[in-house]
Amino acid sequence: MAENRKILLSGVKPTGRPHIGNYFGAMRQFVDLQNSYQSYYMIADLHALTSPEVQKNPEMLKDSVFDVAMDYLAIGLDPLKSVIFKQSDILNHAELTWIFDCLTTMPYLMRAHAFKDAEAKNKEINVGVFNYPILMATDILLYNTDVVPVGQDQKQHVEIARDTATKFNNTYGETFKLPESLIVKDVAVVPGIDGQKMSKSYGNTIPLFASEEEIDRAVMGIVTDSKSVEESKDPEKDNIYNIYKLFASAEEQASLAQKYKNGGTSYKEAKEMLKEKLKQFTGPFREKRMTFENNKSKIIEILNEGGNKARKIAEEKMDEIREKVGLKLY
Ligand code: ADP
Ligand code: TRP
Repeated sequence: MAENRKILLSGVKPTGRPHIGNYFGAMRQFVDLQNSYQSYYMIADLHALTSPEVQKNPEMLKDSVFDVAMDYLAIGLDPLKSVIFKQSDILNHAELTWIFDCLTTMPYLMRAHAFKDAEAKNKEINVGVFNYPILMATDILLYNTDVVPVGQDQKQHVEIARDTATKFNNTYGETFKLPESLIVKDVAVVPGIDGQKMSKSYGNTIPLFASEEEIDRAVMGIVTDSKSVEESKDPEKDNIYNIYKLFASAEEQASLAQKYKNGGTSYKEAKEMLKEKLKQFTGPFREKRMTFENNKSKIIEILNEGGNKARKIAEEKMDEIREKVGLKLY
């Protein structure tokens, strides 16, 4: 099949259970993009390995890889549209990273934000952490990627990939395209149940795949002011309303806003409405995820198939690279 769409690659690090902030802020956009680009979605298990916590728990790493695959498949990544694969299945990532390492200077990598942050916090920095951006440059460049959808925090890494491509091209001749980052639209920050930004690190999340009981518990825990039922309430200042908005139609939003302003509507009532919405919205995701939880061999099959497709592209590119750098004798 002739393929003239642009190539997109994104890497997802296997980290913990996603929450609705992650969904609206990032995951949903990734899934939408598979309709417009020839897409590669890679589970970045080699990148995860840079973390000492992950090193302490190999079984957890395995579980996390299955988890992240199931999360994305459940919300709509489609193996018929996208190549879904695991980074460590493609051995060329390590091979090309070495070649890039030899073209990269230490002072250059010392300017990377992530390294500087770790250093400022006096963390012990392993060589993997230091070299993280070069492994990421490899992920991107190995597949002739045009665009890389990332959050603002990863933008510098895409610039490092461009610099690395340029260095290689200048040394060995035109080989790599210069990838562009595609910063996912700045969606409004989803508030957590305490009104701060929803974040794993604040413990204020509503998990995307929460069970009905977890939804009930999280919603009951949403912090409100102490206005009585009769009092008029300001919807924009209320956490229940601000989360409800994500799931409700324009009319439903206007209706709850009006009820708040009129007085006579309790926060408890609004919480019941929110619970209902959350269950309606996330229920199908949870059900789809369950079908995979009960059929791990399906996940293995998808990752294997994705790996085979990715390997074919990577091997072809690698062959060209080996020839250019003088590693290919026969
Ligand atoms: P966390 O803060 O829970 O650790 P991450 O930093 O792993 O979340 O974020 C992963 C992605 O989800 C990022 O692209 C980020 O922009 C998005 N994201 C995280 N929390 C929110 C939120 N509360 N509202 C909108 N987007 C969010
Ligand atoms: N570093 C990215 C993150 O922490 C994950 C990642 C690894 C990635 N390889 C990539 C993202 C390639 C985009 C392209 O989120």
